Amino acid sequence: MNGKIVHIKSFGCQMNKLDTALVSSALKEAGFSLTASVKEADVVLINTCSVREHAEQRVLSHLGHLKHIKENKPDLIVGVIGCMAQRLGDKLLEHEAVNIVCGPTQIPQIAKLITEALERNEKRLAVTEKILQKTSENQNQTLERFESAYGIEDKKIPSQAYVRAMRGCNNFCTYCIVPYVRGPEVCRAPEAIIEQIKRLASQGVKQVTLLGQTVNSYKYKKGRRIWCLADLLDAASAIEGIEWLKFVTSYPSEEFFDEILQVMADSPKVCNYLHIPAQSGSDKILRAMNRNYTAAWYLELLAKARATVPGIAIAGDFIVGFPGETEEDFEATVELLKKARYRNSFIFKYSPRPGTTADKRLEDTVPAEVKQKRIAELLAVQEKISDELSRDFLDKEVKVLVEGLSKKSHLNIGGSGDNPQLVGRTATDYIVVFNGPTSLAGQFAKVKITKTSPLTLFGELI
Ligand code: SAH
Ligand code: SF4
Ligand code: F3S
Repeated sequence: MNGKIVHIKSFGCQMNKLDTALVSSALKEAGFSLTASVKEADVVLINTCSVREHAEQRVLSHLGHLKHIKENKPDLIVGVIGCMAQRLGDKLLEHEAVNIVCGPTQIPQIAKLITEALERNEKRLAVTEKILQKTSENQNQTLERFESAYGIEDKKIPSQAYVRAMRGCNNFCTYCIVPYVRGPEVCRAPEAIIEQIKRLASQGVKQVTLLGQTVNSYKYKKGRRIWCLADLLDAASAIEGIEWLKFVTSYPSEEFFDEILQVMADSPKVCNYLHIPAQSGSDKILRAMNRNYTAAWYLELLAKARATVPGIAIAGDFIVGFPGETEEDFEATVELLKKARYRNSFIFKYSPRPGTTADKRLEDTVPAEVKQKRIAELLAVQEKISDELSRDFLDKEVKVLVEGLSKKSHLNIGGSGDNPQLVGRTATDYIVVFNGPTSLAGQFAKVKITKTSPLTLFGELI
C-alpha cells in the first residue's frame, strides 16, 4: 500500500470498460487502493470516449465539476485516460482541472504517471504520436504484458469478464474516430487469449466476452495454421468453468462467417447472439460510409445466420443523418430495419468527428431537427419489433446469468418473498428482471417470464 486512493470512472464502450478494469488492477498491484467515492480520492481518473461529440461533452462537464472540487482540494490529481485523451492530447492537458493525459495505447504507464504527478506536482502527457502507423513491436509487447498480467479482474459484475481478442481497427469507416484513437488493428496471440481465459475461469469467471472492433475478422497466423474467431471460441469452449462465450462487435463480412456460425450452432457454450451493425439501409450511404457491402447482401448474411443458428438473436447499430442522407435513403434504412427484425438496435445521430474522412470531405447537411425526427421514427419501428420478439417469451422459462441488484432493487414484483429485485441476462442478451436473493449474483438461475417490455423481460425465479 502506498496510502493513495484512486477513484476511476468509465464513460465509454466495452473496450473502455475493459481498460478501466486493467488500470484498476494495475493500480492495486502498484500499491494504490480504489474507492467508489470521489470525496475520498487523492486521484480521480476518467476513462473517456470520443465516438460522438456528446460523449466528449459529458466528459468536459465532468471536468468542470472536478475543477470546482479542486478549488477546495488543490492537491487532487485528475487524470484523463482513453480515446479522448489520445484525440486531444496536450490541448486537454491545458484544462485547469487536468494533471495527467494518457491515451489507450499508453495505459501500461499509468501507475508511473500518477506517482510522478503526485510527487512532483507536474502535468504528465502520454499519447502515441504517430498513432496511424504500424504499432511497434516494442509497444505491442508492452501492451500485451500489461494485458495478460492484469486482465484478470472486473469485480463489478461477478462471474463475467471481457477479454480482448484484438486491439485497434483498420476499417476507417468514414464517420468513425476509433482508428485515430486506438491505432491499427493488432490480433492478440491465441495462446495469450486462451491462457487468460483459463486464469479467469480458475477465479470463478463463467462468462467471457471476446472484444474487438471487428472481432469476427480475428486472424492469427501460427506456424502453418491460421486461427480465426471460431477457433478461439472452440478452444475457449473446452476450458472447464467457462459456461458462456459471447463476442462483440462483428463487421458484416463473409470471411470466417460460416465457421463462426457453425461453432455457434455446435457448441452449447457459444451464445446465439450476434451484434452486427448495418449502419444504413441505403447503398449510396453505405458507400459514402466506406462500408463494403450493400443492403441486400447484408440481409442475405442475416438470413444465412438464421438458417444455420435457429433462434439466433441479432442486434444492430444505425447512424441517421449521415451527410447527403435524403428522405429516400432514410426510408431504405427503415425498410432494412424492418426486414432484419433485430432484437435490439443502437441508433445514433451522425456526429462529425474532427479528422475523419466524412468530416473533411462531406458537409453535415442534415439539419438537427431532421436527424431528431429520423432517430425517433427509427427507434419507434425498432421498439415495435423488439416488443413483438419479447412477447414470444411470455410464460416461457429462460436461463440467466445473474448480474446483481437491479436499478430498482427495492421493488418487488412478487413471487419471491422479501427478496430484492435482481437483474440478469440470457445467452441471447435479453435483460431479465426478477426478485431473488442477492446471493444469486454471479450464478445461473431459471426464471419464468410473466411480463414483457420491448427491452426487458420480467419474471419469477423458479
Ligand atoms: N466497431 C464497431 C462499433 C464502433 S463505434 C463496429 O464497427 O460496428 C459504435 C457505434 O457508434 C457504431 O456502430 C456507429 O453506429 C456509432 N458511431 C460511430 N461513429 C459515429 C459518429 N461519428 N456519429 C454517430 N455515430 C457514430
Ligand atoms: Fe469504427 Fe468502422 Fe472500425 Fe467499427 S469498423 S470501429 S465503425 S472504423
Ligand atoms: Fe470505445 Fe468510444 Fe473509444 S466507443 S473505442 S471508448 S471512442
